[in-house]
Amino acid sequence: MKPVCLIIGAGAGIGGNVGRKFAQEGFHAVLCRRSDEAGLNAMVEGINSSGGSASGFLLNAIEENSIEERVAAVEQDIGPIDTVVFNLGAQIGDRPLAATTYKAFEMGWRLATFGLFRTAHSVVPHMQERGKGNILVTSATAAVRGNAGQHSHAAAMGGRRMLCQSLNAQFSGSGIHVAHVLVDGAVDAPDTLGKMLGPERFQELRETKGMEHDGLMLPEKIAETYYHVAQQHRSVWTHELDLRAYSDRPWWNH
Ligand SMILES: NC(=O)c1ccc[n+]([C@@H]2O[C@H](COP(=O)([O-])OP(=O)(O)OC[C@H]3O[C@@H](n4cnc5c(N)ncnc54)[C@H](OP(=O)(O)O)[C@@H]3O)[C@@H](O)[C@H]2O)c1
Repeated sequence: MKPVCLIIGAGAGIGGNVGRKFAQEGFHAVLCRRSDEAGLNAMVEGINSSGGSASGFLLNAIEENSIEERVAAVEQDIGPIDTVVFNLGAQIGDRPLAATTYKAFEMGWRLATFGLFRTAHSVVPHMQERGKGNILVTSATAAVRGNAGQHSHAAAMGGRRMLCQSLNAQFSGSGIHVAHVLVDGAVDAPDTLGKMLGPERFQELRETKGMEHDGLMLPEKIAETYYHVAQQHRSVWTHELDLRAYSDRPWWNH
């Protein structure tokens, strides 16, 4: 039975690429995303047809018990979850305070912060029993820096960074490695950034910052770091790291 890498929030960007990388390395990748069944099937078939092993499920993380039931079903029917990648963000674009509704704020927290809490609640008991496991959490600049218009996003992401530290404090001694991966810049991610910008602006961004410019973070390269972190020897665990394109200034410099 192959060890499982479970991705909560697997689009064509970071989530899907991390799944593919783990599958290339001998894991069974379980890809979960909210709505795009055709996109999900294409990623799963892409992995399976190139010699890897993957399955995919539609899952809306906002729905009660969605994450909990998926974790239980994977453990029972597919295999032991070695690594869970919590990849859901809560970016809603810049919105001034008055335009940030109570509902939008709460939704950001529900998805990005409470979603990780529920994931940890579901998966940690299994990992504890085995004395090992990785919880890799994709994060964003907003986890460490508030900004105008980022009221909901920054509060949710900052909260979950603290949750990562708390989980580490309680469970690293049990062999569970929690890593908070701060993605400090724009990613070549058509299903998230691409949809937020729209096709024209995204293509323009790709042409001006991406491609040979290497100023847009490539998700397949991000995936290599996720795999590396999950394989670290326990005498040298990384709990927090940040990634950005060479041409971007780090979050603490501007
Ligand atoms: N993209 C960037 O420029 C950027 C920059 C900094 C940080 N990040 C971080 O990177 C992570 C996302 O990675 P990515 O941008 O490369 O995206 P991705 O892995 O390509 O896609 C993420 C997927 O999450 C799914 N999702 C959204 N809401 C969901 C829900 N309620 N339940 C289940 N699935 C849901 C979406 O599925 P559907 O498409 O099916 O709805 C989406 O395709 C986030 O944590 C974000 O904060 C991204």
